[in-house]
Amino acid sequence: MQITINETRLISELEALAAISELEPPAITRIVYSDADRRAREWFRGLCDEAGLSVRVDAIGNVFVRWEGSEPELAAIGTGSHIDAIPHAGAYDGTVGVLGGLEAIRALQESGMKLRRPIELLLFTAEEPTRFGIGCFGSRLLAGTLDSGAGERLNDPDGATLNELRAAAGYKGTVESVRLPKDHYAGFVELHIEQGPLLEREGIPIGIVTNIAAPSGLRITIEGEGGHAGALLMPYRKDAFCAAAEIVLAVERSAKSTGAIDTCGTVGKCSIHPGAVNSVPSRVQMEVDVRDTDEARRDGVLARIREACADVAARRGVKVEIEVVNADAPAESSRTIVDAISQSADELGLPWKKMVSRAYHDSLFMARIAPMAMIFIPCRDGVSHRPDEYAKPEDIANGARVLAHTLAKLAQA
Ligand code: GLV
Ligand code: MN
Ligand code: MN
Repeated sequence: MQITINETRLISELEALAAISELEPPAITRIVYSDADRRAREWFRGLCDEAGLSVRVDAIGNVFVRWEGSEPELAAIGTGSHIDAIPHAGAYDGTVGVLGGLEAIRALQESGMKLRRPIELLLFTAEEPTRFGIGCFGSRLLAGTLDSGAGERLNDPDGATLNELRAAAGYKGTVESVRLPKDHYAGFVELHIEQGPLLEREGIPIGIVTNIAAPSGLRITIEGEGGHAGALLMPYRKDAFCAAAEIVLAVERSAKSTGAIDTCGTVGKCSIHPGAVNSVPSRVQMEVDVRDTDEARRDGVLARIREACADVAARRGVKVEIEVVNADAPAESSRTIVDAISQSADELGLPWKKMVSRAYHDSLFMARIAPMAMIFIPCRDGVSHRPDEYAKPEDIANGARVLAHTLAKLAQA
């Protein structure tokens, strides 16, 4: 039976979603539980209703869009991604997996196929760490890797808790109820842009992810002593921001010290108190992101950052506190799902290569409760998390084609 992806429909839906942003296009910002997030979800719900798919929303806003199989009691095959977008992001990160997943299901419906297993499309709440400082909290809770205290413990920069924010957004029920049983999915496949340059550079339309690198995040708070920028003389200072600057460079040095191209260290967020040009910084808080395909090597970098913090604290007479926000294990894809993707690409005549995902994805956590693999498509110059992020319509449609064929195979098994 012929499975036909409607490229025009898919691209116009990606464009429509891109227009729902807190910023003027092409810069997309869609923070979880914001007005833009709510509008995007309502719009997406309309598409699911039009397609005649049933929709369940859990207590934190994870959305499950279900196409029933001929044997509804069988474990489902899951697909999906996220629609939240970091500040000044682009239009393709996550959205290609959500709308591409919807298009794949519609293509299967329209083909007249009747599959054995149900297919569930997931829209994960907050893959991005922007609001709560931790990535993938929707899938973490689904996979049971965050404790039930998360509802009160996680809060946004304004101090609002996850429980307050989800209630205000209309999500009811307990955080515990989000967890899925381990046998809910027989398999999970996520379609995503590569967010790196390899597929485009090598002219290969399909990447098959075999491993997802291990992410970690630290929140470092430095307490020094503030004062007047003219009257507090240099020998007597305990400038929290100067200490922070040394720590930022130590993060870079520690990441580079492994000699491995797969180690990355970034300080992407920093706030200075009191934040006045004529006031010596008394307090700095920054967020550090360290990743590696090798968990032990990643942990070695975290240890070196700790040593550097202790050294800076002693030399400069400041107090440095380190909170480990997350230090996750890497994920390995399932051979069966990787094979289903490669066979699908072969049937479609699309060249493919196996690759590692250096970015994290909800699939990192879905791998803990289901066999998982991911489909990557090229994006221009490997650029992501920027307004000029771009994936070609043809590549997006090819990704959705491979996804539809893969879902069909897995749902028949
Ligand atoms: C996901 O957005 C990541 O930062 O890898
Ligand atoms: Mn992202
Ligand atoms: Mn993403």
